[in-house]
Amino acid sequence: MDYQEVMRTTFAARDFTGEPIPDTVLYEILDHARFAPSGGNRQGGRVIVVRDAATKDQMARLVEPASKRYAAQVAAGENPWNPVVPTTVSEETIRQTPVPARLTEPLRQADVLLVFVVDLRVLAVTDQLLDRVGIIGGASIYPLVWNTLLAARAAGFGGTLTTISAATEPQVKALLEIPPSFALAAVVPLGRPVKQLTRLKRLTVEEFTFKEHFGAERFSGN
Ligand SMILES: Cc1cc2nc3c(=O)[nH]c(=O)nc-3n(C[C@H](O)[C@H](O)[C@H](O)COP(=O)(O)O)c2cc1C
Repeated sequence: MDYQEVMRTTFAARDFTGEPIPDTVLYEILDHARFAPSGGNRQGGRVIVVRDAATKDQMARLVEPASKRYAAQVAAGENPWNPVVPTTVSEETIRQTPVPARLTEPLRQADVLLVFVVDLRVLAVTDQLLDRVGIIGGASIYPLVWNTLLAARAAGFGGTLTTISAATEPQVKALLEIPPSFALAAVVPLGRPVKQLTRLKRLTVEEFTFKEHFGAERFSGN
């Protein structure tokens, strides 16, 4: 598979056949992924490879409250977990919302969970003095996460970049014995996808680019 095809077809796989990913293949995937950049090349990312069924089950249970909140907000037409627009969904509605299996089951059913953490002591966070939600810190770990998914896709495997576990980060850190200075960035359930999607719904270049100023003429390549 050439790199354009990998980039254009790496989708969020949540249904897995149950076929195992051999450690040798997983090692190769991570060996490709490790060339991702990080701020100042500090390389503070660490990955925990979780294969134990009881741990995966615990990880799935831990995301239940945050997943219910997500589903309740989607049902109310909101952008879930958005920090800018306040939610109108009550705690009672969230309590009564069924656990959405789509958000929990991949963590249970995947052959392996890759838990990405990053050492906060080596992050260069250039937006830390701004009066808004932080965005830059994650940029030193998500290239590694995405590289992993691209490499998995090229090897015929797949998974999903999930962040819902961060809502219960203290419990995940206790479960996996993650040191205090590390933050949870993503949990990637990985396996052999039941289906390999090839047509992803994404904005066109013209829809997300401008010439010279935000909101100005679209960039069409002509
Ligand atoms: C920052 C980020 C956080 C995400 N968190 C979750 C998550 O917690 N659970 C989940 O099932 N999917 C999660 N996703 C997956 C997205 O839902 C998925 O990438 C998107 O819907 C596109 O899906 P597609 O590639 O199949 O079209 C996340 C994706 C990103 C980039």
